[in-house]
Amino acid sequence: MSEREDHWNAVYGARAEAALTWFEDAPEMSIDLIRSAGVTADARVIDVGGGASRLVDALLDDGFSQITVLDLSAQALRVSQERLGKRAGRVHWVAGDITLWLPDGAYDLWHDRAVFHFLTDPEDRAAYLRALRQALRPGGVAVIGTFALDGPETCSGLPVVRYAPETLAQVFGDGFEPVSSRAHRHRTPMGRMQSFVFCTFRRR
Ligand SMILES: C[S@@+](CC[C@H](N)C(=O)[O-])C[C@H]1O[C@@H](n2cnc3c(N)ncnc32)[C@H](O)[C@@H]1O
Repeated sequence: MSEREDHWNAVYGARAEAALTWFEDAPEMSIDLIRSAGVTADARVIDVGGGASRLVDALLDDGFSQITVLDLSAQALRVSQERLGKRAGRVHWVAGDITLWLPDGAYDLWHDRAVFHFLTDPEDRAAYLRALRQALRPGGVAVIGTFALDGPETCSGLPVVRYAPETLAQVFGDGFEPVSSRAHRHRTPMGRMQSFVFCTFRRR
């Protein structure tokens, strides 16, 4: 098991889902952006670093039938699987590192809330973008939520890279057309506010 995997399994093992700083009862911004992307319910959707997020519940409620949730932490995925009960059988679960993952086909929509910003090593960012380019079909949409320039410098004890829409677009490169960006303030379970930026890109 890698150090990274150990770290995240320990985080999810130590605290209840609703006590994690990134916990959202309803992932409204993500759902809103996914709905605005114009994908239909038969679209192939992947939530990268989905952890124990309730986005998968919301996607199932919206009728999506081809959902993949990938996360480094099998412990996090178990939290979601237990919460979903029988509905968990309708989801494809992948326990793995996005920087090492080999996509199994073409996706229409890639969602990442609060994962890319942990990639502080340029090689990891390049590997992530390689996986994204391989996974997302031309015309497909990527919804990426990271800490904004005035967001926290660390999360879960790990350093992060904070982004403005322009710097994220620069990192994603010419292969991705920036479509929209939205600022978002997340209220943690302890009542602290965190600045996020959510950017939508279309794969050229
Ligand atoms: C801050 S949490 C966000 C979880 C989820 N996206 C949400 O909004 O609730 C970051 C997640 O990224 C996962 N993660 C971190 N590094 C990863 C990597 N290299 N590959 C896949 N998942 C990773 C962690 O296990 C954790 O679930």
